[in-house]
Amino acid sequence: MIYTVTLNPALDKTVEIREFAVDSVNRISAMRTDPGGKGINVSKVIQKLEGKSIAAGILGGSTGKAILAALEEMGLETCFHFVEGETKTNLKVVDPARHTNTDINEPGVTVTEETLGNLLKELLERVDEGDIVVLSGSLPKGAPKDTYRTWTEAFKGAGAKVILDADGDLLAEGLKASPYLVKPNNHELSRLFGRTLTTKDELEEAGRKLMREHYIEKVVISLGGDGALYLTGDATVSAEGLKVPVGSTVGAGDSVVAALAVAEERGMSLEDTVRLSTATGAANVMCSGTQAAEYDVIKELIPKVVLVVK
Ligand SMILES: Nc1ncnc2c1ncn2[C@@H]1O[C@H](COP(=O)(O)OP(=O)(O)OP(=O)(O)O)[C@@H](O)[C@H]1O
Ligand SMILES: [Mg+2]
Repeated sequence: MIYTVTLNPALDKTVEIREFAVDSVNRISAMRTDPGGKGINVSKVIQKLEGKSIAAGILGGSTGKAILAALEEMGLETCFHFVEGETKTNLKVVDPARHTNTDINEPGVTVTEETLGNLLKELLERVDEGDIVVLSGSLPKGAPKDTYRTWTEAFKGAGAKVILDADGDLLAEGLKASPYLVKPNNHELSRLFGRTLTTKDELEEAGRKLMREHYIEKVVISLGGDGALYLTGDATVSAEGLKVPVGSTVGAGDSVVAALAVAEERGMSLEDTVRLSTATGAANVMCSGTQAAEYDVIKELIPKVVLVVK
């Protein structure tokens, strides 16, 4: 089983307002709400890939209930703990006339170590040897910054393979527990190393350093429209980005993580893994917002993936 953990989810509310202006009345011409948060996005994409996952995390208030209801309506299996307070709504104002995007983000809930401990305990009771646990995204207020280190250690102790997708301190801390796979993008990897890594050689060297120093088996470095680098103990694969019409690049990385988890669970070869995750990332770029692409679209892109094995 694949578990995705979203400790800091959000309800993404996207509204369209033509000629959006401050200090005046604005009228919405179209709107949609989607349950969001990186782990939740991963679960949605796994479902499109005909895989199964359990989406876990922390929710609060009526917004939390709305997210849970939406996930259940999609047919996703869930394991969320509720806390005091209100899960954040992230409002995105899209102005098609002025071509602007304005984000207004709520603060979200504050968690206690007890809340985190209770969720971890329940998940550890459920996780079996060989399961995959995806830890991704930001942490809510109140969560210690080494949460991904302690959670990675705990899930590894239960025999699970941990995939970590985080940024900044959260990534740096998580690495100390040697997750099975990490998927930084080039910017996150550069921040981790404190310098701009530009060429594929520089990025590969940095990725290999992580593998050596932190005993990480697999590193996938995503490069937006330029594709990705896949590093394993005995191979390096460079995948070119697919040329697709861009709807929204938000969540492209989450789609790659979903494909990597599914590929791992299905025991796919490295080459097939690269094809599936590159196609899944590109197919999701073709969709608007964080909508997950259909498997048929992904399948059409798979043979078009260009990769070089080193
Ligand atoms: N413009 C694009 N055209 C084609 N493919 C893309 C494009 N942007 C992203 N992709 C695909 O999606 C993958 C992941 O993208 P990216 O590196 O932007 O992830 P990310 O920065 O982690 O995204 P996020 O965290 O917002 O989900 C890329 O490796 C690539 O295969
Ligand atoms: Mg990302």
